[in-house]
This record gives sequence, C-alpha cells and structure tokens, in this order.
Amino acid sequence: MKLLDKKTEEKIESIISSLTLEQKIGQMNQSVAWAGTEEQYKERIRRGEVGTFIVGVPAYTGDRSAEHERRRFLNSLQKTAIEESPCGIPLLFGADVIHGYDLVYPIPLATAAAFDRDLTEKVYRNIAVECARDGLNWTFAPVLDLPHDPRWGRCVEDGGEDPYLNGQTGAAAVRGFQGDLGNASLIACCKHYIGYGAMEGGRDYHNSDISDYYMDNYYAPSFKMALDAGALTVMSSFNSVAGEPVTASKKLLRDLLKKRMDFEGFVISDYDAVKQLETQGVAADKRECARIAAEGGVDMEMVDTCYPKYLADLVRSGELDEEVINEAVRRVLRVKFAANLFENPYKEDYEIDKAEHAADALRVCSENVVLLKNNGVLPLSKDEQVFMAGPYLNEKHSHVGAWAGHYDVQTIPSFREAAESYLGEGGKVQFGGSPFGDFEVESMENCKAVVLFLGETLFSTGEAVSVDDLTLPEDQIALIHRMKKKGVPLVGVICCGRPRALGNVIDLFDAVIYGWHNGSYAAPAMMRVLYGDANPCGHLPMTLPRVTGQIPVYYNALSPARDVNEYYGRATSYYGTTAAPLYPFGYGLSYTAFEYSAPECDKTEISLSDLEKGKKLRIKVTVKNTGERDGKTVAQCYVRDLVGSMMRPVRQLVGYEKKNIRRGRTTSFTFDIGKEQLGFFGSDRTFRVEKGEFEIYVGECATTTNKITIKVI
Ligand code: NOJ
Repeated sequence: MKLLDKKTEEKIESIISSLTLEQKIGQMNQSVAWAGTEEQYKERIRRGEVGTFIVGVPAYTGDRSAEHERRRFLNSLQKTAIEESPCGIPLLFGADVIHGYDLVYPIPLATAAAFDRDLTEKVYRNIAVECARDGLNWTFAPVLDLPHDPRWGRCVEDGGEDPYLNGQTGAAAVRGFQGDLGNASLIACCKHYIGYGAMEGGRDYHNSDISDYYMDNYYAPSFKMALDAGALTVMSSFNSVAGEPVTASKKLLRDLLKKRMDFEGFVISDYDAVKQLETQGVAADKRECARIAAEGGVDMEMVDTCYPKYLADLVRSGELDEEVINEAVRRVLRVKFAANLFENPYKEDYEIDKAEHAADALRVCSENVVLLKNNGVLPLSKDEQVFMAGPYLNEKHSHVGAWAGHYDVQTIPSFREAAESYLGEGGKVQFGGSPFGDFEVESMENCKAVVLFLGETLFSTGEAVSVDDLTLPEDQIALIHRMKKKGVPLVGVICCGRPRALGNVIDLFDAVIYGWHNGSYAAPAMMRVLYGDANPCGHLPMTLPRVTGQIPVYYNALSPARDVNEYYGRATSYYGTTAAPLYPFGYGLSYTAFEYSAPECDKTEISLSDLEKGKKLRIKVTVKNTGERDGKTVAQCYVRDLVGSMMRPVRQLVGYEKKNIRRGRTTSFTFDIGKEQLGFFGSDRTFRVEKGEFEIYVGECATTTNKITIKVI
C-alpha cells in the first residue's frame, strides 16, 4: 500500500536534500519531554536535533488544568518546530495510551474477549478522542505480541493467543486510534515487532527462538492485519529471535517488515533498546550499537542517544552508508505527511460526549466477561438475599489494570459501591467486611447465593512482571473452601489480567465469571451481568489452563506424532492430571443456549486455479436461540488442512462474527473461505494453498466438532 502520492514523495526528497547530516539524524531521534525546560527543548528543536518526543500522559485534574497546560506546552513546541526549525518539520508527541485516557476501558486482552470488531474500533476511537485534545498525536499501541505463556505479565496488553483474533482486534484499534487522522486522532504504533510473546518461560526481555515457519504463519500475520488497516508506525521489540536482537535484525526489519509486508512508515526502537544491543552482546560499544541498529532498519531511536552521538561520524568515516540515514528520514517524513501534520500541526480543544463514552465503556465490559460455568444460580434475582465478599469487593485500583496513566481512581466504583447503587436502598445484599474473614453472617440460611470477588492485583501484570504460578493466591483458595462449607450456592467473579489456572477451585463453584481488569465501568457492568440485565457474551481470547505445568497450552498447535491431542481431550501427557486445558480458546457461555446447525457449503470442492482467481467457498450455519432469553453468540470458523507438505495447526481461526439472536429465533452466519483462509507459508516462505481435504468447523469455541469437509482440487 502506497502511503503518499508522487508529489509528496518529491517534496520529501527535496527536504532531505536541504537538511544537513546532523539535522537528518535529528529526525531519527526521540527525546523525553520531562527532563528539561521548555526553552531547552525549543533550542534543540531550532537546531533540528529532535524528530519526536515521548511525553507521557498528564496528571488527571478535575478542572483539566494540567491537561490544558499540556496542550499549550506541546503546541508551543510544535510552533517552534514549524516556524523555526530547519525545513519547518512538525514533531510527533507520543505516549503509551494503551487502553484508556479520561475513562479506563478494559485491558486490551479483555476488549479482545468481546470478539467484536466494531465495538473494539469504537473503544479505541473514544480513547483517541479523549486524549488528542490534550496535545498528543501518537500512541504506542496496539500491541500484537501473540502471547503463548500466561505467566508473562504483558499478556494484559495483547489481543490473545490467536493470530487472526489478535490481528483483527489490532486492526480495529488502528482504525479507532487513527480515525481520519484529523485533530481528534492519534497515530498508531504496532508493537512489539516481533516475537516478544514467545520469550522463554514468559520472562520479560528474554529471548525467543522462532523458526521461519512460525514467524510467517503465527507471528507476522497479526502485524500484517494491523498494518493493512493503515498503521503508520511500528516499534521493534526488546527480545531476540534465533540469536539476533530484533533491534538489529535486517532479516526481520528490512526484509520481513519493510519488504515482504510492504511497510512504508517508520520503525522506532523500544525504550533504550539501541544501547541494549551492547548488553545483548552483539555490539562492543554504543557506536557499534548505533551502526547495527540503523543498518538493521531501526529508523528512530527511543530516548537513548546512540544515534545523535555516533551516526554522523559513522557516515563521515565511511562505516555507514548515508543512504541508510536518508531512507530512515524518508520514512519519518512520510509518516508526518501521511498524518497531515504539515497542514494541521496543532491540537485544539473540543467537547467530548461523555455520556456516549460512558455508555460504550459500560457496554464493552458487559460484553467481554466470560461465563465459564453456571449450574443455574445465575443470573441472581434482586428479590433474593445475596452475600458479597472477597478481597476485591472494595478494591478500585484493581479495575484499572496495567498501563493506564490518566484517570481518577475515585470516580471508579468498587464492586460494593456498584452493588449498592445497582440494588438501591433496602437492596437484598449483605457484604463481608474483611477481605478474608470468616463471615459468620447471621442470616446465611436465607441467603440464596454467595458472590466472591477474586482475582489478581494489577501489579502482577504489565512490563517486567511475570508470575511463576498461575493458581489463585492461597488466601483466596482458603476463602473459597470456607465459603463452600456454608452450603450456599457459590459464585466466583474472578478478575485478572491474564489467564489463571483455576483447576484446583473450579469444582467448588456453582458459577464462575471471568471478569478481567475491566476499567472504569467494570463494577457497574458486572452487576448488570450478575443480575441478568446483560447476558454474558464474552469468549476467551487465550486458553485457560487447568494447572500451571500445562503451559504453553494453546489451541492452534501442530499435531503430535501420535494421535494424542490433549487439547482436544484425546489423551493425558502428565502423570496424575490431564493435559487438556480447563477451558479452550473461544469458550464462553450465555444465560441462553444456542443450537448450531451443521455447516453447509455452496460447493463441495474448488480448484486451485479458482482460488488463485479469488473465488471462494461460502460456508453457512443457522443458529437457533433455544433458551429463555435474548442473547449474543460468537460464531467462530476454524480451518484444518488435513494433509499438507508441511504440518498445519489442528485448528486455525479464520473468521468470527457476533450476533444478537432473540429467544426462539434463528439466524444465519456465513463465512467466505478462499485462498487466504486455506493457505499457509511453506518452507520457501511463499504463500500457497495445496490440494486436498480441509475440515471447516463452525461453533462456539476452538474444540467444536461441528464441521464439514471440502476439497481443493
Ligand atoms: C517500554 C515498553 O516495552 C513499550 O511498550 C513502551 O511503549 C515504551 N517503554 C515507552 O514507554
């Protein structure tokens, strides 16, 4: 996809030829905007030393004073850039605006659980609208890391274990953030390119070993989808892949990203990652760090100063081709033109529709929570006495999740506050005062259900935080056992930033809702779900393991050598426990029930040449809501290539759609299956479809057996 027309490309060339070598290198530098005075920054801008700033988010102030000051400050730096810097090149101001700004929306993993592209786009549009009026024009999101190890704290930022869901969610986020790239937009940055989700042991900043096959078929596709949605920038990741730090990898940055994936925007390193090439042991000193990162394809250095210190000298001494610099600047300028910053460099204030944003936030958290289990105790009735307790009953911070910076925690209701306001005065609810107390509640015999609010703290998720044990903390497990003994139906609301292993407690509950770190409206939305005003319709974006020792466990693995695929419940690899996960990818129940017809296809076979011409098969299922309530189902379409020249995943998600179905009604879903859905990258790294049989599954999770077989001839 070409970002710009020929005339603009010519303008870029003319700017490049008017800049000095140092000024060009300035465009490749990102500085912090929190370690100096305004005048010091302006001096540097006038000298052409800075291309972008990382600015963080301002403090949340009720009267918006800090926010107004931030816009004034950034507009003022921009004015200096436009009016006084060499060639008047506008600046980018970036920050980690990951899942919220004025409002905290669900952590990205949780938004993915809604399996709803339009809703996802709207959430990220709202975030951009809330944020851009305060002066920022760039966010370091979405995150497309494809985590396979839930111990890793950064699962929280991702769209889940599946390339397609991850890519579709990322693409929706890109559309939302960038909008029309007007005043209320943020440039998106797809990160962390690439293989960060595959680090050994789920330990942050460690190494990944990814073959070309996995790179092409698992890790690259989600980035490709987000780039095709128009993302203008990419951040390289800290990790290495196959012994080579991504920050210096020609193979991954120049060949795969820029050439094969056709990316014309620029690549920024992660924070200080250029100088870390020394720590990673591929550069002897910072000078070498600068050279190999620039040659590798990192167009802009985040924060550290290897580029401004050494690149000019490297060019002058003949160790680095100046064309490497020109190419990087070309890419940076392209993004600045494509984002319309030469025409509209400043941000203006505007009113936002707070009620609309609040309604969207409430909706996404009503639609992403996953009902894992329910023997009929849910939904609760307002007419019956309920007892609510647990360590997260009164917590507000835990709703926020990792990577939210601009919010007022006092405006976020706890579960208890939300229950009080939802049930009103005289509401039939009692609360357990101390988080882990024994709750000798007098009226327990009148109680129709106990709801325990459990989960993990936000501080166990995020950058540089992994956990070695996925089970719930011991005090929570003890509490669950104690409450079970009360003999009252037990409901668990488990709010986490990653999949947790619930195998040791699941049987103690009558119902479980997996609730996430869901942001400002987490608690009000949860009350709607608990009491049936909202019918749960979230589905798992990552497999929920039974025990920690099962990981990595993900649905789209290759087939083992004997027909013992544990994920699909066909064997046991571990002594004393099964290797099947507790709940598979895509899983989620409703208060109603859906009956899926067997898939039908408009053809039983299709030829390779028709697929090449773009022809497709159309798969159709009808789905009936056979329960007592209206509800939404997510029809998920998976493909299995039965015999290939290389092994193919046991299932691969190729389509999904969420629809509301009124009770008693039937609706249909169609999925078009063509070359893209049936093909894969082979050992020569080309994309191909091979002749043979394919199973196409349509159902409500990855282990569905509802299938049709078609043939490619
Ligand atoms: C390091 C993180 O890995 C990255 O995600 C983030 O954007 C930068 N720091 C900037 O804060």
